[in-house]
Amino acid sequence: MDRINCLRKAGKIAAQVRREGAERIIEGASYISVMDYCEARIIELGGEIAWAQMALNDCAAHFCPKEDDLGTFDRGDLVKIDIGVHINGWLADNAMTVEVSTNDHTELILATQNTLKETISVIRPGITLGEIGQRTNEVATAHGFNVIRNLSGHTIDRYTVHAGISIPAINTEEKTRIEEGMEIAIEPFLTYGEGLIRNKGESTIFMQVSERSVRSPAARKIMAFIEQRNGLPFCTKDLTKQFGKGTTLLGLRELVKQGVLQDYPPLCEVSNGLVAQFEHSMIVTADGVEVITRHPDDTW
Ligand code: CO
Repeated sequence: MDRINCLRKAGKIAAQVRREGAERIIEGASYISVMDYCEARIIELGGEIAWAQMALNDCAAHFCPKEDDLGTFDRGDLVKIDIGVHINGWLADNAMTVEVSTNDHTELILATQNTLKETISVIRPGITLGEIGQRTNEVATAHGFNVIRNLSGHTIDRYTVHAGISIPAINTEEKTRIEEGMEIAIEPFLTYGEGLIRNKGESTIFMQVSERSVRSPAARKIMAFIEQRNGLPFCTKDLTKQFGKGTTLLGLRELVKQGVLQDYPPLCEVSNGLVAQFEHSMIVTADGVEVITRHPDDTW
């Protein structure tokens, strides 16, 4: 299968699993059950797992429950589910937000959907990064919310989640232009808060960023698994399932210290403002984009 068809297939599966996962985010369901369900469904539908991640309330992204995490969704939680699928390394990245049992944040959710939709509508070859960011910020502000200024969309390449170009959510005046054939992910984050995130708490997500050889037995043991990921992210639980907690902890600590792995702690809003996110992946065409992660039930 060629790149475009791999991307289309990955996108279709990513969208389906995202929606099925979102439906399972209900009061009392455990985080781990929903994430495990999504991973299993990706495989069942013929895809390969790039990631299944979530984030709660004032956190925007980058959380993966550990194997022994007892956390369950509570009434009123605002939950982001972020699903990545690949076919032969060709990746689709998408996310959505749901509110558990209440309807207190419908306005924020709809505003984020509309911000994504409006941003996508201006993307075509030749538009600059600054112009895209300007549109995102304009729409969010018109709805009365702040965008998270230090989170961005991104280009995607084979086995590469962030392929070098960040697509801002504000007008950064950047003149780099979008080109036909690029794969990009657009993911506005809207908040009641200030619109800035910082790292908060322990990292449960890691990714290989260099090839250095490692000495300790623990690190060497888990390196074999990590290399199979081909540069895609993984969660702590992927390792503890195979190697146990002790080896995993020691190995991860050493590999991060040596710069072989980058850790990605949860990203949470600085003023504890609740955050909503919607994300699609798309291929830039001659006169616009082909969104590859739109599910028939997505209105955005
Ligand atoms: Co993304």
